[in-house]
Formats: sequence, structure tokens, C-alpha cells
Amino acid sequence: MIEYSEKSKTFVLRGKNYAYIMYVGASGFLQHVYYGKALRAEDTAYLLQTYGAPHEPQTRDGWSDGCLNELPSEYAFFGRGDYREPTVTAARQDGARMSRFCYVSHTVQKGAPALSGLPHARTADETLCIVLQDDFSPLQIKLFYAVSDNTDILARHAELINTGKEDLRIEKAFSFCVDLPDDAFDILRLHGNQTMERTPERMPLGHGITRLHSLRGASSHQMNPFAALLRRDCTETQGECYGFQLVYSGSWAITAEVHNADTVRMQGGINDTAFNALLASGQTLVLPQALLAYSCHGLGELSRAYARFIRTRIMPPRWANASRPIVVNNWEATYFDFSYDNLFPIIDEAAECGADTFVLDDGWFGKRDKDDSSLGDWTVHTGKLPQGLTPLIDRCKQNNIKFGLWFEPEMICEKSELYRAHPDWAIGKAGQPPYRSRSQLTLDLTRKEVVDHVFEAVGKILRENEISYVKWDMNRSVSEFYSHTLPAERQGEFAHRYILGVYDLAERLTSAFPHVFFEGCASGGGRFDAGMLYYFPQIWTSDNTDAYERARIQWGTSVCYPLAAMSCHVSACPNHQTGRTTPLHSRGAIASLGATGYELDLSKLTEQEKATVREQIRAYKEVETDVLQGDVYRLLDPFAGDRFCMMTVRADKTAAYVVGEGLRAVPNGYRKDAFVRLQGLNENKTYRIAECNVTASGAALMRFGVALPQLFDYQCFVWHIAEVRAKR
Ligand code: GLA
Repeated sequence: MIEYSEKSKTFVLRGKNYAYIMYVGASGFLQHVYYGKALRAEDTAYLLQTYGAPHEPQTRDGWSDGCLNELPSEYAFFGRGDYREPTVTAARQDGARMSRFCYVSHTVQKGAPALSGLPHARTADETLCIVLQDDFSPLQIKLFYAVSDNTDILARHAELINTGKEDLRIEKAFSFCVDLPDDAFDILRLHGNQTMERTPERMPLGHGITRLHSLRGASSHQMNPFAALLRRDCTETQGECYGFQLVYSGSWAITAEVHNADTVRMQGGINDTAFNALLASGQTLVLPQALLAYSCHGLGELSRAYARFIRTRIMPPRWANASRPIVVNNWEATYFDFSYDNLFPIIDEAAECGADTFVLDDGWFGKRDKDDSSLGDWTVHTGKLPQGLTPLIDRCKQNNIKFGLWFEPEMICEKSELYRAHPDWAIGKAGQPPYRSRSQLTLDLTRKEVVDHVFEAVGKILRENEISYVKWDMNRSVSEFYSHTLPAERQGEFAHRYILGVYDLAERLTSAFPHVFFEGCASGGGRFDAGMLYYFPQIWTSDNTDAYERARIQWGTSVCYPLAAMSCHVSACPNHQTGRTTPLHSRGAIASLGATGYELDLSKLTEQEKATVREQIRAYKEVETDVLQGDVYRLLDPFAGDRFCMMTVRADKTAAYVVGEGLRAVPNGYRKDAFVRLQGLNENKTYRIAECNVTASGAALMRFGVALPQLFDYQCFVWHIAEVRAKR
């Protein structure tokens, strides 16, 4: 709900549990007033009296020393007495940068704003747009706030418009600024690396600037475009916390600045390092959307709010509530060494085990026998597959399963037909040796003709073959941020334009082939963000499929993404990434906490193992809806103890699914964590946990808990919880 009071010049935005308040001072300064647990409308006068008015610049001429540096801002500017980091910096033709943005007008519209060329929340009850005008340069800013009654996510973005005749240079343009009145917070981030993505790290917020970012042209394995501020006493189940997440997949930054007055300023958006944009007369720069979240019931509630929001408002709508293909992928089964002979048995077994899609991974195109050639040549490698894809597709059809294919559309190898024809399509500066990664270069997707070409090349394969699934990979970071076709004064826009090219390509391909299911991938989880989820409903969470490591990666990923977004496969042991051997049952259990699948040579399994896989898939189908659409509760933290446990609860609380894993067996003896307290159930309902032979009220299961089984290293347990209805 969005309310504006002309009398008090205040905006009050309300979601499910929060209020967000802003105030337009007499000088036109748009001041942030409050963000937190919902307040009564009458309280805004009190807030302003104690907080806003005495500091406020009274007139446009009367802005004086100190006042702006103390005031909470909605979109901070540089060079006018606020010495914290600005949200935007704009230079005029004369080189001067001393913007001062003042309120001009506002509108409230039904629904969500459409961000041209950028992924965004598809729905909202209503959207507030506040227009600010710089009184120094001809820069107008539109601030958008998309609000809905039934969510605690506030979707914010900004648009910059040059209303003058001369060019402006935008040197920094973040999407949002939130100034909170004290700094008694920990900051939580999700850092990592390839094969160890999204590791939660929580530490006290100190003075100065904490900066999380990626300069890789992708959101990155190393840091996810998300940060949370948690009250020091905030836990999974109680306390106050705020989330800040970007719907953006390119180079990004989120900063937390603790000011000398012990306030904290959170900001984020397009990474400002080596960024600048030319804003010509009449031009608009649309900035990425940020999802702000508030929870007064701990981090778990914040995660559930994000998960619900991303699944139902960001992902392609047809997949929000749909089951997913259960995939068998040949990558770890064969790597590049495949032929019809070793793929047919995998296809046959995939069908036999109950999977519904076989995916042919890297190596099917050009002359690709190892990872040093052919990216860009999207024609079948007839050396390996002399009759093309057809025999494989036919084999799938005979088995009544579907066929999927791997692409890496953004890449080019120097050893390729494409490179020979268009060396300048690879990112880099002529005459400079390129930075190679996995023997590949990145295509310059800032160029329309390159996007058009990739669309055609990938589209041709999809048109000419019965393909129902695409795995869209991206196996290197972008470097040498330079395009041969951009004018010098626009090279600073390169990284942003690159990701706009990716979005354009993804939009065109997903629209042209609506029947195809697209899965995102970037060497595993190197571009796992809400931006990509707008186009691809799930992402290959990590190349690390080890059941111990995966439990941790999926735990971290669940901090701000739904399980429906996580593609989770069972692979062979010893695990190819860690060398660890874990039980097949455990691998299946951990992979059941997401969109499940298999990544191994099923034909090499023993009969007993095949029976186990068949049973896993059958059992998965029973819980799939609860896993993909249920509410997630993180019960035992694998980073804090020897066990992992997570559960999902059906929306009406009639059923739940629990998966736990022993990470390090502790022999003998009574342990304080011998019980796990369940969460999210209805206190008054009676539940049965078949596997434990337990029947008890939701209250007992949540307050006292359930005894954990004895767990050896990497052993998992699975509980199916169902409401017991009283007999009439
Ligand atoms: C990346 C992906 C893998 C696989 C390989 C193929 O590493 O994450 O799943 O597709 O590329 O080269």
C-alpha cells in the first residue's frame, strides 16, 4: 500500500510486515525517514519531529554545513555537504559535479514497472514513482518503488534522464540508497569460489565502507549480489534483519558505509569501478532493480520472503508452480569422449530409472574433442556423431524421454570457424594478447550483429531438432572491457552493455522457443542471481556435486534463493571434485532439495544401485511440489556444527519434508544436538513422521524436537511428515 500525505509531505509504503517512510522537506530534499517493522500512520509526525525537521535544510538557499551529512537520503548526491558515498555522480560538460536533487512530483500507478532491457519483478500491487530534478545539471531522476501487500520485498530501481541539451557524464549510478539510523548490525555476505559457491560469512559491521562486488562481467562465484544486515541478536528464527539483493547479473557492487554518526548507508547497483556512461540529451539510463527485504522474525523469514518473491514474481511464470525435467546429463559420465555407443545405454537407463530428459553436454559441436576449440561453431561434430543429433533424439523418443543440449552461447575459441571469420567479435583490443581462460574468449555481446548471429546459430539447432531443454553455460569471466565498435566516450559502459546483450539474447531465445526449458549455468554457480532467474527458471548450482559440499552450498544459496532455482544432481563416487565417497542414498537425499537429476553413467551402476536410483526418482516425484514450492526452514547449520538439516513445509502446513546429513560422526555419548527442533508446522495439528514412528503435535515437534538418528560420516536421513487428520 502506498500513501502520500500532502499535509505532512510524507510517503508511507507498506508491505506485509514493514513500513518504509520518506519525507519531502521544505527545500525539496527527499529524506529517508524510516524502514522497519510496520508503524501506525500517526507515528510519522512523531518521527519527523524528532528526526527530520530540525536538521532539514529549510529553503533551497539555506542548505548549510553539516545538515546533509547527517540526514538520511533516498538517493545521495556528491559535492553538496553529504560526505558519505553518493548514489549518483554526474559531471556536466564543464566538468563540474555538484548535483542537488529536489523533489518535483510523484505518481502512483497500478502494477509493476517494466524495466526496458533489464530483468525485474513482473508483478506488484502498485508502484510509486518520485521525480527528482538536479538544480545544477539537467539530470532528472525517477525513483521507483514497487510495493505489494502480501510480501516483505520492496522492489526499487532508478532511471536517469538527461533533460538538457548537452551531454552529461554519469560516473556512478547505483540503484538504491537506504540510510538506517544506527549501525548495530552484522553484515552477512555469500562469498565463495568455483565449486564452493555462496558460503555465508557474518561479521560485525565496522566504521568505514564494506564493499562487496564483482568485476567479472558476471555476478560471480566469488561474491553473490546480495547482502543482509542482521541485528546482533538475530538468528534463523528471531530478530530483525534487512536484505539487499540485485536483480542483476553483470559487474555489480553493494556497499555498507558506517558514518561517523554511527548510521549505516546501504547502496548498490552497477559496479562503478571503470564505469561511466554518456547520457546524451533526452537519453534515459535505466538502472537495475534491487530487492529490499525486511524481516522481524529472523533470517529464515527473510529467506522465505525472497524465495517466494523470486519464484512467483521473477521467474518465467509458467515455471513458478510447475514440476521440472528430471535430467540425466552425460558430462561427468563421458566428458568429451562420447559416441552413440556410449550414450545410447545412458539414455536407455535414464528412461528405465524414471528420468524424463537426457541432456547432451559439452563436446557435440564443431571439432570439440577437448576444451580448446570450437566454441561459437554451433554445428554438429560429425567426427563424433556422424548422423548428427537425430539418432540420439530418436533413441530418447523410443524411450519416451526428452532430449536436451548444452550451449555456451557467449563464447568463442580462437580455434573455430567463427573466429577465423570474425576475429574482432572476440572481446579484446587488437594488438594486445588476450587474456585466455579455459582457452576461450568472450564474444562482444555489446554488438547487435554478434547477438543476432548467436541467436540465429543457436536458434537453427533448436529449430531443426526436437530439443526440449537447453543448458546455457558461461565458463569464464569477462576481461579486457573494450569493444571495437563503441566510441571512446562510451567504453565505460562496456560491462553494463555486455550484460544487456546477454539479457537481449536470453529474452529472444526464450521467447522464440517457449516450449524449451532453459537452465542457466556458469561453471556451476558463477551467475546465480535473480537477473538470470528472470529468463531461466533454474541454474546449475555448482559443479561441486559432493554430498557433503553440496549440503553447504545449497544451504548458503537458500539464504536468498528458492529451492526451485537450484539444479541438484547425483554424481558418481569418488566424487570428481573432491575425491570423497558418500553413500548413494545421501547423494540422492541432498539432490532432492531442489530440481533433482543425475550426472553419471547410469549404465555402469550395479543392479542394486539402479534400483536405488529408480526408487529415488519415484520418491522425489512424491515430494517435488513441496520441495519446489514449499517454505524452507534451515534447521541445523552445516557451517556451525557436525550436522546439516533442512526442511520444506507445504503452504497449508499439512505436509513437510526433512533432509539431514551427518557431516562428521561423533561417536557415543549424549549430545546437546541429539534433537532437531522442527519449524514451520502448525502447532495445533497432529503430524506423523513415518520414518521415526513418531506421532505428535506441531507444538511438540517444534518445541521439544525429534531425536536424530545415529549418523556416520555423510550419512543422510529423510523424513516425510504428514498431518494426521482426526477420524470422524
Ligand atoms: C561447466 C559446467 C559443467 C559442464 C562443463 C562443460 O564447467 O558447469 O556442468 O557443462 O562446463 O564444459
